[in-house]
Amino acid sequence: MNAPLPLQALAGSALAEPVLAVAGLCKAFSGRPVLQGLDFALAPGQATALIGANGSGKSTLLRCLVRLIEPSAGAVRLLGRDMRALSPRALRQVRAEVGIVWQRHNLVPRLSALSNVVHGVQARMSGPRAWAQSLAPGLVRDEAMACLARVGLADRALVRVDSLSGGQQQRVAIARMLMQRPAFILADEPDASLDPQTGEEVMSLLLGLVREEGLSLLVISHRLEHTLRYSDRILGLANGRITLDQPTARANAASLRQFFDHAEAA
Ligand SMILES: Nc1ncnc2c1ncn2[C@@H]1O[C@H](COP(=O)(O)OP(=O)(O)O)[C@@H](O)[C@H]1O
Ligand SMILES: [Mg+2]
Repeated sequence: MNAPLPLQALAGSALAEPVLAVAGLCKAFSGRPVLQGLDFALAPGQATALIGANGSGKSTLLRCLVRLIEPSAGAVRLLGRDMRALSPRALRQVRAEVGIVWQRHNLVPRLSALSNVVHGVQARMSGPRAWAQSLAPGLVRDEAMACLARVGLADRALVRVDSLSGGQQQRVAIARMLMQRPAFILADEPDASLDPQTGEEVMSLLLGLVREEGLSLLVISHRLEHTLRYSDRILGLANGRITLDQPTARANAASLRQFFDHAEAA
């Protein structure tokens, strides 16, 4: 077989429509500005890390992208849709294609890992009736098992979630999110309440979804070594703006520390 021409390879990546395009995004809380005009776009199939000091607005940005918080101004184009213009129903549909991983995972502790993952299917439906009518329980269960296997927990499927370790629980939460069949994953410090080794496993799992399943990822992490190891690109948020935008291959611990030092001095 012929190798693809460089231009064809480009058409599949850099020239493809961004999964996310943000223009002039602003957010203020009670008149106090947090985001002051963000402009950036993410190419599909990439892992982007978002860094910034505590309180710099990283979580606010993530929530503004899916309108869990309403932006004060600016435009967000997510998976080809203008987020400002959507009906409530269309907004639910876009959200169904975006998997979110939180620092705290909100699993139901008394239920098994499998039951928790099965419930994730509801997030890809636009209403409870659609889910009850259109899905065969056996197929949903099979898919949930496959999602648990994807995160390395097939053998823990029937175990109650509250008897799993913190890292295993976070992986169950990722399996539940995969039931949405997302195209794009937003992760807000998924490694923050885990020990360094387990946190690293979770970051590695997320990057694997990008590399092996072709998903796109925007992940917040405050661990610089994770940022450097598990991303393609690093965005830095300081003083309400993106002040760092670097391919990870060109970043290092010193350049990231410099970013934080500048952020503090400004
Ligand atoms: N719902 C809210 N109401 C008022 N202020 C908020 C709200 N959410 C966040 N903030 C403020 O916005 C700033 C950015 O917060 P956040 O986005 O959580 O930062 P980060 O995730 O980077 O630590 C902080 O000063 C925080 O106190
Ligand atoms: Mg935060």
